[in-house]
Amino acid sequence: MSESIDIPDSIIAALRDARHVCVLTGAGISAESGVPTFRGAQDGLWAKFDPYELASPAGFERDPALVWRWYRWRRELVAKAEPNPAHRALAKLSSLVPRLTLVTQNVDGLHQRAGSRQVIEFHGNLFVTRCIAEGCVIDVDDTAEVPVCPNCGAAARPGVVWFGETIAEHALNESFAAAADCDTFLSVGTSSLVYPAAGLAEAATDAGAIVVEINPEPTELSSAFNFTLQGKAGSVLPDLIESIAL
Ligand code: OAD
Repeated sequence: MSESIDIPDSIIAALRDARHVCVLTGAGISAESGVPTFRGAQDGLWAKFDPYELASPAGFERDPALVWRWYRWRRELVAKAEPNPAHRALAKLSSLVPRLTLVTQNVDGLHQRAGSRQVIEFHGNLFVTRCIAEGCVIDVDDTAEVPVCPNCGAAARPGVVWFGETIAEHALNESFAAAADCDTFLSVGTSSLVYPAAGLAEAATDAGAIVVEINPEPTELSSAFNFTLQGKAGSVLPDLIESIAL
């Protein structure tokens, strides 16, 4: 049974009156689809794996085959997962407000599979492969332990952002412009620990938006938000979207 929490009327009113809603999602929104988060104490990916071995340029240089094995495992896991009610609620939200900007730190593509369009993928996409030399998106022979670029022969890499790397300029610019322009900002399922993504909620606060967090646990930034809805995204978001649609 899904747990229901009381949603303050002022949040519902803010969403009903909003001109532009900006949403930032993190790994927590896909947790109910069976995709592990990063910082969960027991089942988080970073509790079991070393991020600097698997998700950094230096780790890839040291052992590209290990990195590719890990990303293939994650691709398989995500390919079997299905979008959950939280992803679907956000897809519906776009038809209920004049303008919605959806920014995700997730690389799993579940928002798009739930029907969201024009998602800003802040940390890239798990299913994209890029040439390590030129950065372009490529198709590769996926049976190779370490696939190579068909154009130049350099190693291929997963199209995600690793530790120490910069965010794609268009994603950074569009996200921060949306955060500064929106009147309501939702921070969903993120620990708010990783910058620059965590800075979006701060930019929205600075610009005077109402900022609402949806997370079963308090986070680093909870005290800076106007509201915290303490619950799972898969039950809170459908309730919220239903309330504003009434
Ligand atoms: P984290 O693993 O840091 O945080 C996940 C958050 O989701 C936590 O605050 C949980 O309390 C919350 N959570 C868990 N289950 C939830 C549920 N059912 N509904 C709502 N919230 C839930 O994941 P991110 O904040 O996404 O970066 O991590 C940010 C970045 O750090 C990732 O994009 C990744 C990682 O290193 C890169 O790989 C570049």
